[in-house]
Amino acid sequence: MAEFTPTPDDRFTFGLWTVGWQARDPFGDATRAPLDPVESVHRLAELGAYGVTFHDDDLLAVEPDKDTAVAAFRKALDETGMQVPMATTNLFTHPIFKDGAFTSNDRDVRRYALRKVLRNLDLAASLGARTYVCWGGREGAESDAAKDVRAALGRYKEALDLLCSYVLDRGYDLRFALEPKPNEPRGDILLPTIGHALAFIGELEHPEMVGLNPEVGHEQMAGLNFVHGIAQALWHGKLFHIDLNGQHGPKYDQDLIFGHGDVKSAFFLVDLLEHGGYDGPRHFDYKPLRTEDAADVWASAAANMRTYLILREKAKQFRADPEVQDALRASRVDELAQPTLAPGESLADLWNDEFDPEAAAARGYHFTRLNQLALEHLLGVRG
Ligand code: GCO
Ligand code: MN
Ligand code: MN
Repeated sequence: MAEFTPTPDDRFTFGLWTVGWQARDPFGDATRAPLDPVESVHRLAELGAYGVTFHDDDLLAVEPDKDTAVAAFRKALDETGMQVPMATTNLFTHPIFKDGAFTSNDRDVRRYALRKVLRNLDLAASLGARTYVCWGGREGAESDAAKDVRAALGRYKEALDLLCSYVLDRGYDLRFALEPKPNEPRGDILLPTIGHALAFIGELEHPEMVGLNPEVGHEQMAGLNFVHGIAQALWHGKLFHIDLNGQHGPKYDQDLIFGHGDVKSAFFLVDLLEHGGYDGPRHFDYKPLRTEDAADVWASAAANMRTYLILREKAKQFRADPEVQDALRASRVDELAQPTLAPGESLADLWNDEFDPEAAAARGYHFTRLNQLALEHLLGVRG
């Protein structure tokens, strides 16, 4: 259906490392050939994407010379009009980062990691990126004896404070977005959830320059409600960017196509993003299944966008359905937006309430009806 065909106005973006994933896993070799970033840019543009994002090392997938790789990438961007709203650093693949980057016990590694980020910040800024993601995949430990977590958080803060001051000195229009993840590849990763990361940002020298890049699967791996996490990030003004994908509950990081995991959560997530004030790119960080061939990769990229657009339409129909509006009122969902004390009231006024606790306790909230209506919209039998 044409209405579910993406255009750049939808602001869908993909990491080069997503479609380019060769499907090497801890138990098996790659099942696909390396993909030239130039081809990815062209293919994604043809599919209706708005832009691409990259790690410094992603550009070297087929072209070992950095300058040549960057020149070819720039040319592809110019030819297609694709944007680069976000960039990031690979601080996890090379063995040097086996004990972390900003929080490695080895001080020389920490210094090397900072240099690697600084170099790519310059490239990110020159390509027009506005968000710089920090996913600390190797910042963590397998043994509580191996890492002084309080010292590690001190070093993490030191690194971010230095990077913020660099961006300010250079006058770059860039903000940092931390990406929480509970585990994998480390046994335990620092800043494991949205909540941990939010608390950490409050301790930084430039908290206004640092927000979040939460990923669907990462919160769900921890058994957490991603929609609640995103709502809280929005409430704090910290949803700088988002990684959309799919996950089936607490297990290894599946990085499935968006909607191919918990589809009901995906529905409420799209509803929140579309109606909750998020105006950044809709970025997919997924992995095409290891079983898929080179052509299937592009079908999987298209599936992410199409699923998002279908859910966007479903959410719109859900909100517009008079029965849903009635059910929302009956469940008093709107009443929660009303401050508990009226303007001019003080705590003393609470004593004037005429209230029958037994009657209030007996009242139902009728959430079942609301949930069933949402499910029926999602299943396509309404709207
Ligand atoms: C993961 C991570 C990574 C990061 C990306 C940015 O799936 O564990 O999300 O994909 O987002 O590498 O550094
Ligand atoms: Mn992931
Ligand atoms: Mn991610």
